[in-house]
Amino acid sequence: MRPALAIIACVAALSATTVSALNNGLAKTPPMGWSSWNTFECDISETLIHQIADTMVSSGLAKAGFQYINLDDCWMSGRDPTTGRLVPDATKFPSGMSALSEYIHSKGLKFGMYVSAGDITCMGFAGTKGHEQIDAETLAEWNVDYLKMDCCNQTDLVEAHGVYVAMSDALLSTRHDILFSCDTDELLMRMNNHEAPWDWAPGRCNVARIWLDIKDNWPNLMDIVDHASNVMYASGPGYWNDLDILTVGMGGQTDAQYRSHFSLWCLLGSPLLLGNDIRNMTLATLNILTATEVIAVSQDPLAIAGERIRTSIDGTMQVFARPVEGPPGTAAVVLFNRAAVAQNVTFDFYNDLYQNNFCCPPRTPAITVAVRDLWQRQDLGTAVNTTSFVIPAHDVVMVKLTPIA
Ligand SMILES: *[C@@H]1O[C@H](CO)[C@@H](O)[C@H](O)[C@H]1NC(C)=O
Ligand SMILES: *[C@@H]1O[C@H](CO)[C@@H](O)[C@H](O)[C@H]1NC(C)=O
Ligand SMILES: *[C@@H]1O[C@H](CO)[C@@H](O)[C@H](O)[C@H]1NC(C)=O
Ligand SMILES: *[C@@H]1O[C@H](CO)[C@@H](O)[C@H](O)[C@H]1NC(C)=O
Repeated sequence: MRPALAIIACVAALSATTVSALNNGLAKTPPMGWSSWNTFECDISETLIHQIADTMVSSGLAKAGFQYINLDDCWMSGRDPTTGRLVPDATKFPSGMSALSEYIHSKGLKFGMYVSAGDITCMGFAGTKGHEQIDAETLAEWNVDYLKMDCCNQTDLVEAHGVYVAMSDALLSTRHDILFSCDTDELLMRMNNHEAPWDWAPGRCNVARIWLDIKDNWPNLMDIVDHASNVMYASGPGYWNDLDILTVGMGGQTDAQYRSHFSLWCLLGSPLLLGNDIRNMTLATLNILTATEVIAVSQDPLAIAGERIRTSIDGTMQVFARPVEGPPGTAAVVLFNRAAVAQNVTFDFYNDLYQNNFCCPPRTPAITVAVRDLWQRQDLGTAVNTTSFVIPAHDVVMVKLTPIA
């Protein structure tokens, strides 16, 4: 079956839009790390985090670019009524947070933590509303490098927005480099897309969630991709729309589906936080997560997030693209087969990329590109105007196209 890719004209105005990003010098490209939430939820401890940090280095994930080790909810016991400070759970973290921070830093990695914008966190621990300054100072004392602020149990949306603003200012006031991740999905939903995070967050956050919590299944992955496809224009150096923690390797999907997941998160410029138990991941999972040429697209120095540029009439084939470093017109492209059967797809890059404001004035009569397969790490020769691939079910082909003068 060959989907009619050439019929729906959907013009993508991919350009390096200047967003006024939070001016803290961080997240020039999407942050990369690991988060405790997807696999461990509240079942976290000092021992686990030490093992994760050790594995980040020994597995090669750190070398591939994954830096942050992020604790999610459930690290605290509460707020000290006398000092007003957040107190770590002494059973889970007997050595305290400064010691944990030091351990992570000693491995050449960075330390991330979690707070929430209401009176209580999602799991019912002490919230940060009204305590932004002292919490920022406490985190700075622990040498925290990354902060996720969640948004549960907060009914007043204007107030919740205010907590993010106050925390953003408080973090800047510590003069400590703390990447600020705004977990705004619940806020977004209740605001019914008014004042969507991608409209206000770039000036306040380095990262903001744009849709609901990820689940380790294929329909949910498609749902997130569909919501992300046309809002990534807000991303750029200093601010990145967050499609949520990766589920790659958690066991609910096939390797092909995880390859699609990882390719799209890289192409669309989402933060890349691993959510699996990296201590016992399969070789196939490790190979996905350390695909250097795919990760290079995520971390490309042009720092322009990708967008969807084409959907077939039946919706089963989509093309996503972004400009990457190289001669004018150099592009990373994900050809995404959403169907449960293999498809032979012809990508008309002459029209879909080069006649659509992608990079540079249209050139005629023909465009020749060098094609490199980023998963296979293999040059596929040159192509004129179009290029064809057979793509397995729920899988992708990810290529770099470099125009030849
Ligand atoms: C807090 O929010 C979480 C997540 O939405 C919810 O499950 C929990 O019931 C809420 N707690 C209270 C006390 O409302
Ligand atoms: C890793 O270990 C956990 C706990 O024993 C298990 O549930 C999970 O299936 C394992 N994952 C893999 C990929 O082996
Ligand atoms: C895929 O389609 C292209 C263009 O029609 C064709 O040249 C190629 O032979 C097809 N490949 C397969 C394996 O069917
Ligand atoms: C490439 O497309 C251009 C513009 O439609 C056309 O003039 C040219 O003949 C095409 N070349 C090939 C090899 O298909």
